Amino acid sequence: MAADLNPPGPKSFLPGGQFFSIYRDPLGYFTRLAGEYGDLVHFRVGPQRCYLVNHPDFIRDVLVTRQDAFGGRFVSTPFGKNWIELFFGESLLTSEGDASRRRRALMQGAFRPQRSGILDGVINDCADRMEEGWRSGDIVDFPKAVREICLITLARTLLDVDARDEAGQFSDAFDEMLGTFGSITLPFAELLKETPLPIARRFRKAKEVLDGFVYHWIEKRRTARDHADDLISVLLRAGDSCGSHPTSDERIRNEVLTVILGLEGVVSTLAWTFHLLARNPEVETRLHSELDNVLRGASPTSSHLSQLPYAESVFSEVLRLFPPTWFTARRALDDFEIGGYRLPAGSLLFICQYVMHRDSRYYFDPLLFDPGRWGADKKDGRPEFSYFPFGAGGRYCMGANFAWMHGMLLLVRLAQRWRLRLAGDPRVAIQVGVTLRPRHGLLMRLERRDLRLTIIE
Ligand code: HEM
Repeated sequence: MAADLNPPGPKSFLPGGQFFSIYRDPLGYFTRLAGEYGDLVHFRVGPQRCYLVNHPDFIRDVLVTRQDAFGGRFVSTPFGKNWIELFFGESLLTSEGDASRRRRALMQGAFRPQRSGILDGVINDCADRMEEGWRSGDIVDFPKAVREICLITLARTLLDVDARDEAGQFSDAFDEMLGTFGSITLPFAELLKETPLPIARRFRKAKEVLDGFVYHWIEKRRTARDHADDLISVLLRAGDSCGSHPTSDERIRNEVLTVILGLEGVVSTLAWTFHLLARNPEVETRLHSELDNVLRGASPTSSHLSQLPYAESVFSEVLRLFPPTWFTARRALDDFEIGGYRLPAGSLLFICQYVMHRDSRYYFDPLLFDPGRWGADKKDGRPEFSYFPFGAGGRYCMGANFAWMHGMLLLVRLAQRWRLRLAGDPRVAIQVGVTLRPRHGLLMRLERRDLRLTIIE
């Protein structure tokens, strides 16, 4: 088939014009492109040809069917490495090819069900500990509290490390680091990093704290018994089977922090969940009623989850509206034909979950928070790739099951016992970075629910 070179798209008369539009408001920019130009849009960032891919069939092509036609997915700015690459260094997040595939297979061992099986107990223990300090009427910084629980849980389940004492300091530093990522497109990070600018100072300080903890954990696991199957022990034993000889502590540090970054997806999803529940009392009431009927006052475990379809719909709907990984990108290794166009080798293809999940072709009244759209009879009509919060294909989220169980258990446990009310401005702005999170945290006022009413003796 003869293919045209360029799909429609915006023209910019200033060099870097598109770059500054993306930098200022990435979500608005991609939403406008899709609305004005359709399923496949061409735009340039400096000399780089870029395309927004915005049709479920095309998305399947890029992520799954023809995934081998693509290499590097991590997008440096035209002005060098971005803050995320600088922080994570060489890791699963930033690497490609065979070595990366072998490392992924190896790391997957740490996500075995036996390890995740201890999740129920660990989450309930952490929540008990946190709730000891919670009183009705108190105001909490919700994402901060949840991040600490998530960190302790992940450290215990995947790394076999007890992080209870350091969780507060670690999560503050991680939060600071995420703040410096701010907009992932901020240019000249490599040059700025060593300057006395506030963003660079915060970056260095947070990195020092995080590195200190992670290297200490690596040291602890080095002395563990031979057959330990936690992530750090597996990587320590891996030697040169994965390319580097032996796996350096720095590389292990990078992988551990990558996995902890995944956790931020759970934190931001839960923050948006409780924000939306507070603003939608009828959804909250229905959720409480399901939890009370099924759990009858007992602490939730993973075996309860299949009996909680409405809680599942709430979680799915939040992942639709606020997908933590809001875009992904792929670089074409060769000329690539799609939708009747030929995209030249080296093109960058952007796939934006945030835009696709809000497409009115697939979602009626797409901006409405409506868990009802996920009822068993309703979701079947939609094409598969109109909803893909965990990605797809060879780079499908490695922690998807863990994230799902972890997020659902915490949602259920907290909603069962607490009603959370917004204590600050209800119009919460989105901070666009590695995830979509509330820009200034999320202050919530606690109201304890009365569990005695639901306990059956
Ligand atoms: C709600 C929570 C989460 C969401 C929505 C999410 C989403 C995603 C997505 C969309 C990708 C694929 C990116 C791409 O195609 O380029 C991905 C990759 C990844 N995720 Fe998650 N994630 C979540 C939680 C987690 C957790 C908890 C972990 C670890 C414990 C994790 C570990 C990873 C890793 C290691 C990769 C890279 C896989 C690879 O490149 O081969 N994620 N995640």
